[in-house]
Amino acid sequence: MITLVKGFHDILPDETRKWAFMMSTARESLERFGFREIIPPIMEKTELFQRGIGEVTDIVEKEMYTFEDRGGESLSLRPEATAGVLRAVVEHSLLRKDPLLKLYCIGPMFRRERPSKGRYRQFFQVNAEILGDDSPYTDAEAVAAAYSIMTDIGATGLMMEINSVGCPNCRAEYRKLLQTFFKDRTKDLCSDCRRRLEANPMRILDCKVPECAHMVKDAPLVTDSLDEPCREHFREVREALEILEIPNRLEPRMVRGLDYYTRTAFEIVHEELGRSKAVGGGGRYDNLLKDLGGPDASGIGFAIGLERLSMGIPDDHPRFRRRIDVYVALLGQGAGPMGLTVVNMLRSNGISVETRYSPMSLKAQMKLADKIGARKVIMIGDDELARREVTIRDMRTKDQTTVGIDGIVKLLQGDES
Ligand code: HAM
Repeated sequence: MITLVKGFHDILPDETRKWAFMMSTARESLERFGFREIIPPIMEKTELFQRGIGEVTDIVEKEMYTFEDRGGESLSLRPEATAGVLRAVVEHSLLRKDPLLKLYCIGPMFRRERPSKGRYRQFFQVNAEILGDDSPYTDAEAVAAAYSIMTDIGATGLMMEINSVGCPNCRAEYRKLLQTFFKDRTKDLCSDCRRRLEANPMRILDCKVPECAHMVKDAPLVTDSLDEPCREHFREVREALEILEIPNRLEPRMVRGLDYYTRTAFEIVHEELGRSKAVGGGGRYDNLLKDLGGPDASGIGFAIGLERLSMGIPDDHPRFRRRIDVYVALLGQGAGPMGLTVVNMLRSNGISVETRYSPMSLKAQMKLADKIGARKVIMIGDDELARREVTIRDMRTKDQTTVGIDGIVKLLQGDES
């Protein structure tokens, strides 16, 4: 047997209704906030992610599925959606048509991380971006959109953690403070962090090696290095969140693992999963569009991981149950042609129908009808055939009615209303 690629997963038929529900609810919530869908490809030039996410990040250094295609070009499966969405915005000059652009996309991302509960190598994100507005209220609106998806889906036990990671101006000073702090402790840092110390010291703060994580607890806080405009921006974001009554908690140690963030950063954490497996995360990125060759416009966005979100929603919720309007039970050899006619007629009238064409006992068919959640069973046996009638059984009340072929649709549709 050839099995799945490690860290990848199938979404099986019993789970797909829940997935469809999560995706359609997310779409509805985002469209209420004025977002429109964009569908970028799942593969981009590797350079896009190197430039967008940052060369010295775990994602780019260790986790991308990168390969050379037959033409010798380096391509990567997208590890996240923001870089690709912004590439499309720049390439199609979308901000020229729409100076305030709100876009979302839903689809699979790929990161070669160590698989564990809630951590996969292919996972789905609902990703949203707001481009062209640097007001702190826009930050609050991005957080509100993420929160609204969660509440519309009915997820519980979630908390918004929020921080400001400042701008390049604040970070020049913060970088020096971090280097001074870790230089005295270099020998205890992992080899990756020793390299990061020169190249990108902020990335030490999200190192997963326990010794490094332990040291980080005493490291200087980015919030203490914020300049006045960043401090004021953050104050207003928090004020707006109060007005919107979105439960949130300041988390001064959260810096996020991607290099493009400036100012507001946030994560949505679940009590059980904790921050190392956040359900969602996002933040502002005021230089990314320009860095990718676009206009000098700001942006903020977030992504929610659907595998993690789905963990908080029971699979057997009644709304995810399979629902078939009618099961057609064919009893006896001669029932086939009339059965086909009835099945076809019902389906073309918008009624969902399931049936079995190979012979089965009535008892087995009733069991099957029950299992698939059919509300009605239409029985076609020899008597019915002779009279061109069918018997309809209501699976809930157990009442049975007999009706001529031409009256079936009307009777079933009458029942609906
Ligand atoms: P991120 O924090 O890297 O942000 O990912 C967002 C969410 O994707 C995580 O909170 C988690 O739910 C899910 N996720 C990430 N990695 C995995 C994994 N290996 N397995 C399962 N789920 C995972 C971003 O991707 C940014 N692009 C978000 C953003 C959009 N920032 C601004 N705009």
